[in-house]
Amino acid sequence: MKTRITELFGIQHPIIQGGMHYVGFAELAAAVSNAGGLGTITGLTQKTPADLANEIAKCNDMTDKPFAVNLTFLPTVSSPDYPGYVKAIIDGGVSVVETAGRNPIQVLPHLQDAGIKVIHKCTSVRHALKAQQIGCDAVSVDGFECGGHPGEDDVPNMILLPRAADELEIPFVSSGGQADARSLVASLAMGAEGMNMGTRFICTKEAPVHQNVKDAIVAASELDTRLIMRPLRNTERVLVNPAVERVLATERAKGAECTFEDILEDVAGVYPKVMMDGDMDVGAWSCGMVAGLIDDIPTCQELIDRIMTEADAIIRTRLEGMLSGSVTQVA
Ligand SMILES: Cc1cc2nc3c(=O)[nH]c(=O)nc-3n(C[C@H](O)[C@H](O)[C@H](O)COP(=O)(O)O)c2cc1C
Repeated sequence: MKTRITELFGIQHPIIQGGMHYVGFAELAAAVSNAGGLGTITGLTQKTPADLANEIAKCNDMTDKPFAVNLTFLPTVSSPDYPGYVKAIIDGGVSVVETAGRNPIQVLPHLQDAGIKVIHKCTSVRHALKAQQIGCDAVSVDGFECGGHPGEDDVPNMILLPRAADELEIPFVSSGGQADARSLVASLAMGAEGMNMGTRFICTKEAPVHQNVKDAIVAASELDTRLIMRPLRNTERVLVNPAVERVLATERAKGAECTFEDILEDVAGVYPKVMMDGDMDVGAWSCGMVAGLIDDIPTCQELIDRIMTEADAIIRTRLEGMLSGSVTQVA
């Protein structure tokens, strides 16, 4: 399948693995890229630019295909060393950067001058248009369903994607709630030129996270995520657990007065304990509603091959069949 996204990034299939804190290590990024998609190393999971340079070098050893690095701009007081991370990305020969969090104007010229393509992930049409205006090569349109930070507008992809298609000229991929061939074909129908998946890629053999994390997602249904940090306007979709229930109780009790310090214990420093130690109830961690569509743990190659084969069948048999008058069922 060829789209503007496969051509822009030099990849075989229009499937991207989004940056994920303490999940997007070289092992996963290389596995996704080797399977013909675009894998992504999460920049800020690496504590220093030197650590990121090592992780990029490791990924270069594991694949000769293009891969990306995610740079997330956090609402933190002490800013990470972004110029250092950008230098590590450029020196490492990375070909794509996924930016997120806020508009990437501060890093965009440096990356593009080095020949790097930039895809900005955002949760609204107005932010997507801003990304286009400042010169991003593509955007990843992240609907309300998504794991992680869905923004504050609460527009699901059934509306957000066609709205993005109506407004944007640069290519975009769908993100949030994407899991399988049905997601891909629906995204393409709504104007996207590929899809970005987060939660689905955690449940792959190569994702270097504790088995408990994968099992928890497989066990979860589409009803098992919650939105926390709404009062702080830093909404995050997470898998429900006792820590999340505590955060929500505090938020309800404090209302508009709730501060980050009130919930700190259940949200700060949680990722290594969940993802590496498998301590599932230690705090809140991002997970998409799409958990309800995930019930196995394939390799990245099996997952991507299955999506592309089934997408072909949906387009050629189910949709084409409807046009030609035959009634078919797709599993
Ligand atoms: C565990 C987890 C950690 C994430 N960490 C980040 C991150 O550090 N930076 C970022 O831009 N997006 C992050 N995301 C968002 C994903 O890149 C992607 O946009 C999102 O998962 C898409 O929704 P889905 O989970 O429904 O596929 C994270 C998502 C998950 C599930």
